[in-house]
Amino acid sequence: MNPLTSQIYPVIWEQDKVLLIDQTRLPNEYSIVEITRSSDMARAIKTMIVRGAPAIGVAAAYGMYLGAKEIETDKREEFLKKLEEVAQLLKQTRPTAVNLFWAISRMLKTAYETIGTVAEIKTILLKTAQKIQQEDLQTCQAIGENGLSVLPTEPDQLRILTHCNTGGLATAGYGTALGVIRSAWQSGRLLRVYADETRPRLQGAKLTAWECVQDKIPVTVISDGMAAHCMKQKMIDAVIVGADRIAANGDTANKIGTYSLAVVSKMHNVPFFVAAPLSTIDFDLPNGELIPIEERDPIEIYKVGNTIICPEGADFYNPAFDVTPAELITAIITEKGAVKPHELSLVISH
Ligand code: MRU
Repeated sequence: MNPLTSQIYPVIWEQDKVLLIDQTRLPNEYSIVEITRSSDMARAIKTMIVRGAPAIGVAAAYGMYLGAKEIETDKREEFLKKLEEVAQLLKQTRPTAVNLFWAISRMLKTAYETIGTVAEIKTILLKTAQKIQQEDLQTCQAIGENGLSVLPTEPDQLRILTHCNTGGLATAGYGTALGVIRSAWQSGRLLRVYADETRPRLQGAKLTAWECVQDKIPVTVISDGMAAHCMKQKMIDAVIVGADRIAANGDTANKIGTYSLAVVSKMHNVPFFVAAPLSTIDFDLPNGELIPIEERDPIEIYKVGNTIICPEGADFYNPAFDVTPAELITAIITEKGAVKPHELSLVISH
């Protein structure tokens, strides 16, 4: 049994404020940002101080509570109207990860369904945000366990490629795809992680590699374009990625570059797994074409660190996510078990 040495929690509730690990500064600097207002939480989500679909959901839930606290009225109707405005502000931060909208809706529903004074509603909202956070942690641990049952049985120790960051930093803790990898490591089934660097924001190089190093999990960082070559060289036994939104038919939006990884996995007969909580599944969308794809500032493409790397006069395109068709996905691993993409509705009904 390999021990895990670190416990990474990107969002911490402490004495009337939220503490966020500033993920824009890792791995060079570990710093904490204190959030006391909903507008600051919205900014933190937009600027990716906190990022990763489940972590965004948890942060937004606390953002709703902070917003509720700021509302100065005892009148229920007025309070609920103002809370809707807080919800709108938070919803405008990032469009793709459905966990954001899921968490905000759950907080709003709680407010509407609570019979009591405004002060009582506020208390219940804090409890709900804490519950969303605790549930996500347990969910990730269950995803980790369930992932073990679908990993290839050969070889004994696997070389697993992953994309972006899906670890403790991207969730309430432990991680989804990286949670499966952690479980594989703990149970002796992992030889090494290959982490795609994940241009342009470099979540793989900066965050996944950092988390692996914290846990003493062997990790090799490769640039995104190297994955096909590594597979051809028989260096990869399985690919596991996370998800930002999964449509009802299993089409999966995840960090840009995931789709090409799925295509090359198919070409090289490498199983391609998606690991995600049920809160990432959007049953309202029949297929992935309807998933809104966030486009971010082109500066993320043309500036690396402090250096402009492209000539003036070039144009840029910066979609933050792509959609992998269900047919390229071997299985979707959730807290309720692993299923083929077209069987997603079965996990909900169990
Ligand atoms: O833009 P980001 O860093 O928020 O994107 C994160 C991803 O794409 C992750 O793979 C996804 O949210 C799953 S996190 C468990």
